[in-house]
Amino acid sequence: MLKFTAKALVCAVSLGIASWASADPILIKFSHVVADSTPKGQGALMFKKLVEERLPGKVEVQVYPNSSLFGDGKEMEALLLGDVQMIAPSLAKFGQYTKKLQIFDLPFLFNDINAVDRFQHSDAGQGLLHSMESNNITGLGYWHNGMKQLSANKALHEPKDARGLKFRVQSSEVLEEQFKALKANARKMSFSEVYQGLQTGVVNGAENPWSNIESQKFYEVQKYITESNHGVLDYMLITNTKFWNGLPPDIRTELDKIVVEVTDEVNKEAAELNDKAKAKVVAAGTSEVIELTPEERGKWVEAMKPVWKKFEGDIGSDLIEAAQKANAE
Ligand code: LMR
Repeated sequence: MLKFTAKALVCAVSLGIASWASADPILIKFSHVVADSTPKGQGALMFKKLVEERLPGKVEVQVYPNSSLFGDGKEMEALLLGDVQMIAPSLAKFGQYTKKLQIFDLPFLFNDINAVDRFQHSDAGQGLLHSMESNNITGLGYWHNGMKQLSANKALHEPKDARGLKFRVQSSEVLEEQFKALKANARKMSFSEVYQGLQTGVVNGAENPWSNIESQKFYEVQKYITESNHGVLDYMLITNTKFWNGLPPDIRTELDKIVVEVTDEVNKEAAELNDKAKAKVVAAGTSEVIELTPEERGKWVEAMKPVWKKFEGDIGSDLIEAAQKANAE
């Protein structure tokens, strides 16, 4: 009898906990490595706002900016372990899961961010969102940051100016090769370590969109910024496939709608945020902004473009062609 009562009690308690637990809001932890003021930072906050307005008491979103919960290298692992539910890594950081996304790192592939946008919206671009589902990673959308600018403690007008310098790169083989093509050295480094790396001279230069240069204050520790627009730094908003598919259908439908809305808004605002960030860097007056003449730009293209050949096999020439088409449209 005593045995039965104890068992029943355990049962009741666990049932009680289960029903209480199901009344709790679903928690979405969104971790990222940049500042709130950047396109990704703003997107994460917008997502939180809309979710909590439209799914009050049902879903709670916690945003952790600036590598405050997980930094580079750890955030993907955390997503797969279920420690966070949403992240938006740079497209340069997926090499471990798919080689196809390396396309976004190819130097001088896209003429501008509008071409990037067109490619991301094409069938080929949309297909890449689902290219990692066997790894339990679902892409929900692309978020723009913007085109990258080269910075260094030396004025970079031509590729030969970069020779022998050490550049910080994201964890991408393409970006390593890009600097090797300049006869420079590439050093992979987490985003949160870049300021110190530049300050202490562990690296002499880097490549970033204006919003990252401004919000991380890289301009304080880089004398020159060359407006090279040589590549893109965009993001894939991703979630854990099992988590997303396991959500109650009505909630998932609403979240999908919110994701579309936020994605559109981020992508509308990103260029303006980068323009504003550039204006702040110029106003700070600590680094000189170098504009390239068409002739100088041509030399950078000539030096970096051979990198494509090395990755064509992994990426697929059909995908590269599809991306090039986006320039022409
Ligand atoms: C970097 O590491 O430079 C970027 O990927 C950081 C970011 O998320 O914009």
